[in-house]
Amino acid sequence: MDMLQARIWRSAGAGAFVTYRVPRHTSQTVLDVVTYIQRELQPDLGYRYACRVGMCGSCAMTVNGKARWTCRTHVSKVAPDGLLEIAPLSNLPVIKDLVTDMSGFFDKWSQAKGSFAGSLSRHDDFARVPPASPRRQAVDAGIECIGCGVCYASCDVVTWRPEYLGPAALNRAWTLMNDERDVEGPQRLRAVAGDAGCHSCHTQGSCTERCPKALAPTAGIAGLKRLAAKAAIKGEL
Ligand code: SF4
Ligand code: SF4
Ligand code: FES
Repeated sequence: MDMLQARIWRSAGAGAFVTYRVPRHTSQTVLDVVTYIQRELQPDLGYRYACRVGMCGSCAMTVNGKARWTCRTHVSKVAPDGLLEIAPLSNLPVIKDLVTDMSGFFDKWSQAKGSFAGSLSRHDDFARVPPASPRRQAVDAGIECIGCGVCYASCDVVTWRPEYLGPAALNRAWTLMNDERDVEGPQRLRAVAGDAGCHSCHTQGSCTERCPKALAPTAGIAGLKRLAAKAAIKGEL
């Protein structure tokens, strides 16, 4: 039988890669490989997934050096030679084996004021936002983020400056800055314009290159920089 060699990060002790041999199949995903290892060879292997179809964002890992959704990554695409190396996402603490602690990642969404703040009550009429308006188009371009952390794990500024809010939180802030119904724009702009915010981005675009949803956090971060500059000129920051 055609076999794959999968080196999997195990976190026990100082942590090390352990190699497993896994039967190769057509249309096999990296998540299929990890699941086979856990079910057949290493029952205590820690990993995380839920939907298996690219909707939940929980299965992201480092596969042959790059952050990816494992459920939507075919082995044939990333390991034509049959050699796989699978590790937890970078830039996040490891809980066990392939499982990272995402709390810091989501805390940064709150630091960037990543929640909608409206002023209407249920007694008011619905807000009407024209689909073709430039601000609505900016929202649409960034709204499909599922919080998988792939961009965050691919960002070297997060590696150098762990307090940097990172591409996902800033992308979220940008969509809210363009939401006509939101009333916390000035506070949000102050939250993302500080030292750990949008100005730390070097715009090289690893986040945009790697986002499995084809979003462009780099563009949103550039938009935040423009808004911050305008506000600074007007003395509003
Ligand atoms: S921007 Fe893309 S890569 Fe980053 S968390 Fe959202 S979906 Fe994942
Ligand atoms: S473009 Fe900015 S946010 Fe994206 S990976 Fe580079 S430094 Fe990080
Ligand atoms: S398991 Fe949900 S995105 Fe991969």
